Amino acid sequence: MLVLGIDTSCDDTGVGVVRGRQVLANVVASQAALHAPMGGVLPEAASREHLATIDGVVGEALTRAGVELHDLDAIAATRGPGLAGALLVGLGYAKGLAWGAASPFIPIHHLEGHVAACLAEDAGRGPPPEPPFLCLIASGGHTVLFDVPEAGRYLRVGGSRDDAAGEAFDKVARLLALPYPGGPALAALAGDGDPGTLPLPRPMARQHGFDFSFSGLKTAVAVFLERHPDASRADVAATFQERVVTSLVDVATRAARAFGRDTLVVAGGVAANRALREALAAAALHVHLPPPGLATDNGAMIALAAVEQVRLRGVPDQVEALAVDAAPYLPLAEGPSRPRDAQAPRPHDAAR
Ligand code: KG4
Ligand code: ZN
Repeated sequence: MLVLGIDTSCDDTGVGVVRGRQVLANVVASQAALHAPMGGVLPEAASREHLATIDGVVGEALTRAGVELHDLDAIAATRGPGLAGALLVGLGYAKGLAWGAASPFIPIHHLEGHVAACLAEDAGRGPPPEPPFLCLIASGGHTVLFDVPEAGRYLRVGGSRDDAAGEAFDKVARLLALPYPGGPALAALAGDGDPGTLPLPRPMARQHGFDFSFSGLKTAVAVFLERHPDASRADVAATFQERVVTSLVDVATRAARAFGRDTLVVAGGVAANRALREALAAAALHVHLPPPGLATDNGAMIALAAVEQVRLRGVPDQVEALAVDAAPYLPLAEGPSRPRDAQAPRPHDAAR
């Protein structure tokens, strides 16, 4: 199945082409230079830039994949969550393209796209993750843990109570006067620092649940820098990164144990972080990560999610699919889930 996928949920115009689980092309036009002077994404500017670039990026992806528009079996696009105006560009373009090419249109949830990035076939990688597994999504907009008992079912286990992990990287990068986008720049600086020396707090260290919180750590960095203007910025970056990585790995590992899962799928932009990848390699779990290049927002992951959706549920009804609107806030989970122990019958239930 040959699918073209489009993601315009935030500030990257991403278009990918996949054949089954094989990625034939993955073109991402970054808007980083446009937003850098503002130090963050300006939504209105993002939509205009998507509009200006999308046609060229689609053409480039088709060329690199060596396929023609009429070869495609389906065209997919992110429907949400994300910036409303930005989503509208990719969604509207994809619908028009599908209509014109008489190809089915498949709307995709952005987070399901991030998870599907782990399905990509890549040299040296083993078979794709099979449910049941626990899934950690850590991006700029989301940090959330799902239990996935079967393909396509997402039960929310926990998540950030404030900033997303990537958002915390970006905000702390700003405190360290690093250029936008901050996450990768902070990770690079952390490579030169020592994570063992500074007194920064460990977020949610004593909790029994499966939530995250990163805004207190961010404030602690701000206060620390104010009091110690001459501190090594590399040490601050390394310590901050260590705290975030440890929190993500500890909570995910504990949740996997509580839910009886031995496989952990980690997705989203922060999955590109090397320290996180190293810490996960040491965890007593089968860990699946997206290949480099598919962790941050891209179109190939949306195409991969569409292939998976067709495999599970077939091609969607086209009257319904073409009526799908951009959804800036779109939940993925069916509802809260509880660990295995909590689901065991209570004594009075068993007695009935
Ligand atoms: O998934 P993504 O591309 O976009 C969203 O859907 O949010 O994630 C982007 C986020 C940004 O906050 C970025 O700073 C962070 O992922 N990120 C990183 C790294 N690469 C991207 N954070 C830490 N280390 C990295 N190497
Ligand atoms: Zn994303």
